[in-house]
Amino acid sequence: MTTIHVAPATAVRGEVHLPGDKSVSHRALLLALASTRPVRISNLATGEDVASTVRAVEQLGAKVERDEQNPYDLTVTGVGLQGIQALPDGAAIQCDNAGTLARLLSGLLAGQPEGRFFQLEGDSSLSVRPMRRIAEPLKVLGADVEISTDGTMPLKITSRGPLRGGTFELTVPSAQVQSAILLAGLNADGPVTISEPAVLRDHTERMLRRAGVKVKRAGNKITVDPIDSIELPDTRIPADPSAAAPFIAIATVLHGSMLRLPGVIESPGRSGFVDVLEQMGSRIGISNRGQVDGEPVADFEIQHSQLNRTFLEVSDVARMIDELPVLALIAHFRRGEFVVRGAEELRAKETDRIEVLGIALRHLGISLQPLRDGFVIRGSSARPDGGTMDAAGDHRLAMLGGAIGLVSKRGVTIENADCVDVSYPGYFEVLDAIAVR
Ligand code: S3P
Repeated sequence: MTTIHVAPATAVRGEVHLPGDKSVSHRALLLALASTRPVRISNLATGEDVASTVRAVEQLGAKVERDEQNPYDLTVTGVGLQGIQALPDGAAIQCDNAGTLARLLSGLLAGQPEGRFFQLEGDSSLSVRPMRRIAEPLKVLGADVEISTDGTMPLKITSRGPLRGGTFELTVPSAQVQSAILLAGLNADGPVTISEPAVLRDHTERMLRRAGVKVKRAGNKITVDPIDSIELPDTRIPADPSAAAPFIAIATVLHGSMLRLPGVIESPGRSGFVDVLEQMGSRIGISNRGQVDGEPVADFEIQHSQLNRTFLEVSDVARMIDELPVLALIAHFRRGEFVVRGAEELRAKETDRIEVLGIALRHLGISLQPLRDGFVIRGSSARPDGGTMDAAGDHRLAMLGGAIGLVSKRGVTIENADCVDVSYPGYFEVLDAIAVR
C-alpha cells in the first residue's frame, strides 16, 4: 500500500510527453498476435494494463522482443489470424485488471479453428465486471462462450471454426464490445455489420484497415468483411488523451498556467473532453494536426480560462467516458450545478465510478450528488479544501486525486495510490515536475 501526498501548486508550466495510448496499445498487440508478419510497435503504453496484454500474447504463442534501449519499443512475431492455440493443460489466460484485453481477445479467439479451448480470468475487479455484453453477441455469431450465471468471468471459449456473419444493434455504448464483434467478424463466413448507439472510439476500425481488412463505415453503421490473414504494418502509438485529461484540467483552473502536450490522439471518439471544455470557454490551443499510423493527433497548449455551462450533452458521454471523473473537478470550478446524465456505464468500470467518486470527493471538499446514471456537482469556484482519499484500486481515481492535490488549498493525501501504475506509472512525479510552488 502506497500513500502519496500531493501539495498545492500556484500554477503548472512546461511540456508533458504522455505515455502511448492504452486503447491503441492493446489493439496493436492483439492484431500483432494475429498478424502474419512481425510487427514493430513503438511507444507502447507503459502501464500494467498493457503489460498484461503483452504477457497474454506471449502466453498465446507470440514472440515478443523488447528493445534494449527502450522496453516500450518492441517487435511482436505473431501466430496468424487462425493460429492461436489452446494453452497446455487448459491453463487460463490471465487478463488481470484489463477489461479491454478480456473483451477484445474473446472476439479473436471465438472463431479459431474447431476444438480449441480458452479460459480467460481476471483480478478481483475484472471478475465482477459485466461479460454478458460480450458473450451474447459472440453466441449470435455462432461462438461457444460460457460465463458465470451472474454474467461475469471466467470466460470459457471453445472454438467451433468459422463464425456466422450477421447484423447487430449495439445496445451498450461500448467500444470494447464493438471491437470484440469486429475482431470476431474477421473469422466469419460473411460480413458482420454493427450499428452503434453513440460515437465510440474507432481505433479498431482504423487499425484493421491498416492491416488490410475491408471495413466500411456509413454513419453509425460499420461493416467488416472476413479475411484469411492480416498484416499489421509497424505501428507507433501516439499519446493517450485520457492521460492528458488531468493535466488539461489543472492548467485550465490554475491562473498563470501554460502547459504543452504534444502528439495527443484527437479522434471524434476520444476528443469529447477537449471539445466540451472548449464549449465551456476553455482556451486550448491546438496545432500540428496530423496522423500517426492511422490515428489523428495534435499538440495541445492549455492555459487558465474562466468556464461556463451547466450540463453535459448525453451524446458527448461515450466520447469522454474515462474523463468524466476529471470533468467533476472542472465542474467544481464554476458556480452552480453541473449535471452529468446518461453515464450509467461509469458503474461498470474498474470500480463503480459514480459510487467511489462520490466518496472520494466528499473527503476533499467537492460536493457530488450521485445519480443512477451520473452525478451533480455543486461548484464553488474556490479551491477545494483537499484532505485524504482512498484510490479504491482505481487508476483514474488516483490520477484525479493527484490533480485535486495541485488545485486544492491543503493538498491531497491519496491512499493506495500505486494503482495509478495500471495506466500511468510516474504520473505523480510528472505532477511534481510541472508544479510551480
Ligand atoms: C476502451 C473502451 C472503454 C473505456 C476503456 C477502454 C477500449 O470501455 O472505458 O477504458 O479500449 O475500447 P467500454 O467499451 O466498456 O466503454
